[in-house]
Amino acid sequence: MSYPPLSGLPINSDTLSELQKNLSGLNPLQTAWLSGYLWARSQQMELLPAAAGTAASAPAAAEALAPVLILSASQTGNARRVAQSLLEKLTAAGVAAVLKNAGDYKSRQLASERLVLIVASTQGDGEPPEEALTLHKALFGKKPPEVKSLQFAVLSLGDSSYPDFCQAGKDFDSQLAQLGAQRLFDRVDCDLDFQASADEWVEKTVAWLVEHESRNAPAADAATSVQALVSEPQVHEQIYTREKPFTATILTNQKITSRQSQKDVRHLEFDLGDSGIRYQPGDALGVWFKNDPALVDSILSCVSLEGSETVTLADGTVLEIRDALSRHLEITQNTPAFVKGYAQIAQDQDLLDLVADSKLLQDYIASTPIDVVLRRVPTALTADQLHGLLRPLTPRLYSIASAQDEVGEEVHITVGLVEYEQDAKQYLGGASGYLNRRLESGDEVDIFIEPSAHFRMPQDPATPIVMIGAGTGIAPFRAFMQKRDANDEAGENWLIFGNQSFKDDFLYQLEWQQLAKSSRLSRYSLAWSRDQNEKIYVQHKLLNEGAQLWQWLQNGAHLYVCGDASRMAKDVEAALLEVVAREGGLSADDADAYLDELRESHRYQRDVY
Ligand SMILES: Cc1cc2nc3c(=O)[nH]c(=O)nc-3n(C[C@H](O)[C@H](O)[C@H](O)COP(=O)(O)OP(=O)(O)OC[C@H]3O[C@@H](n4cnc5c(N)ncnc54)[C@H](O)[C@@H]3O)c2cc1C
Ligand SMILES: Cc1cc2nc3c(=O)[nH]c(=O)nc-3n(C[C@H](O)[C@H](O)[C@H](O)COP(=O)(O)O)c2cc1C
Repeated sequence: MSYPPLSGLPINSDTLSELQKNLSGLNPLQTAWLSGYLWARSQQMELLPAAAGTAASAPAAAEALAPVLILSASQTGNARRVAQSLLEKLTAAGVAAVLKNAGDYKSRQLASERLVLIVASTQGDGEPPEEALTLHKALFGKKPPEVKSLQFAVLSLGDSSYPDFCQAGKDFDSQLAQLGAQRLFDRVDCDLDFQASADEWVEKTVAWLVEHESRNAPAADAATSVQALVSEPQVHEQIYTREKPFTATILTNQKITSRQSQKDVRHLEFDLGDSGIRYQPGDALGVWFKNDPALVDSILSCVSLEGSETVTLADGTVLEIRDALSRHLEITQNTPAFVKGYAQIAQDQDLLDLVADSKLLQDYIASTPIDVVLRRVPTALTADQLHGLLRPLTPRLYSIASAQDEVGEEVHITVGLVEYEQDAKQYLGGASGYLNRRLESGDEVDIFIEPSAHFRMPQDPATPIVMIGAGTGIAPFRAFMQKRDANDEAGENWLIFGNQSFKDDFLYQLEWQQLAKSSRLSRYSLAWSRDQNEKIYVQHKLLNEGAQLWQWLQNGAHLYVCGDASRMAKDVEAALLEVVAREGGLSADDADAYLDELRESHRYQRDVY
């Protein structure tokens, strides 16, 4: 509701005097904190016009039968696609449903829901995806939402080669039950080849709801109410998708670390031609890759296959095993299933002992590629046996390093080569080896856009941003700055970047220097870990420049973190908490709540991998 302006103020006199009364008891720090909080709330209101519309239309339906809530908790799009398909199928079946991205959902609203279906993937070391961190924390917090009258079901997506398989889904499932909500069906955990089991879960869930909802629903035009309630802002429909990628030509493939650098990082540019592909800064590029022919040969020879033997893929395609190994199967990532299955077939006692101990098995997988397992214990396999041991190939994602406002029909990425040695042989990552070592300008690659709803620039171009990244984590910030520069956006920009050495690893150095010279980049802080005796990382810069960071936060800045998930993102978060506590004079608990509030209002966003 909007009040008529009084004396030029967008607020009425009663509300204003009530506010003034309440504010009079606050000290300067509390007032500063509140200003940031209110600013963030206002941003959120602007961000969610569709949701506001839904709230207005909800009561009528709520009196009938509150819609089913589908919560999607996804990082790289798989859970989002399953949740979207669940919404479409429920809608088609006439069940009123609403799909929300967990990042846009306030956990306390759970108290007023009737039935929630959660589709959640797991990230990091058994953690929820970025967009579901706040929801997860709220459910496990001191004051969890009231869910006793809630019904729920969970579908979890994960990867069984991680020790904490599907942990986020397991957490949501067990904690909702623990808090008194009623589980409709047992949770289903899906591995990387999730499609068939996810489809089955969707079908079963829709069938159950159709039966029960139609029994409970009052006579109403279900289709109309469904339409009114589908409130999730839809991502821009892509013409080309993961399943139907676009074949793009490489325009540039250039190494951007020096000859002396420990790392091989490349800048790649692709021509989008007249594909009509659209992306936003923050999105990722999906890349389908081909495995190294030399690695394919090595694997074939270890298992005594020629390569011309045929296999049938899950979709019925019949092709030669050499072709399957090249384009359809993962051969650069080892898995527990592979080692367990191979140990059984080879009947090798050492391998059998190893797979009996899950901790030993995890360590072995982390340090031993599939090719090394086979080379150490070569065993003849049939093509079907080999196929059965391997997972389907999955495309890799790369943060987009360009903005279309600047580069038009091109897309740029920044790729760090995965490279290591085992048993005196050099191994490369599947996709990074393909992109960085085997492709050059003029070659073609199958690509698609993976939208990242959880990593978006502020809506208001005048909002200041702080970009914190290490290594290839700089990529999306190049895109952010291209957008701001191309449109002459007023917001201040602070880059906090870390890598090994200034001389060898300052990715896009000339561009950043140019941006600083033109004052588009208002402030920059660089951390070179190997340029002096003691290690200096981005988190040290945050701690040293905490007063300025606090000031930027008071000015409404949005914080972005990109790069390594396992160490950098955690150390950066600890440093942020320390700065907020120190500079804001807050207790550890209050600093934690402050950061949660930033996260909930989309002012603290991470794209970590
Ligand atoms: C949203 C998102 C954005 C991303 N953005 C970027 C980006 O901008 N730039 C970028 O470079 N990457 C980015 N990544 C990471 C990228 O997707 C790939 O994971 C990365 O390039 C490695 O893939 P690969 O196919 O080259 O390696 P893989 O073939 O996946 O090989 C990795 C595997 O090699 C094995 N391995 C590695 N080291 C060793 C060792 N020492 N001993 C034994 N085995 C080992 C491990 O099993 C590991 O799983 C991003 C990821 C995500 C999810
Ligand atoms: C960086 C990273 C970490 C992951 N960690 C786990 C994990 O700890 N446990 C797990 O079961 N799956 C893990 N996965 C696998 C994902 O859950 C799986 O790929 C899932 O299909 C992704 O769904 P999404 O695209 O909706 O995020 C991880 C994936 C990535 C990229």
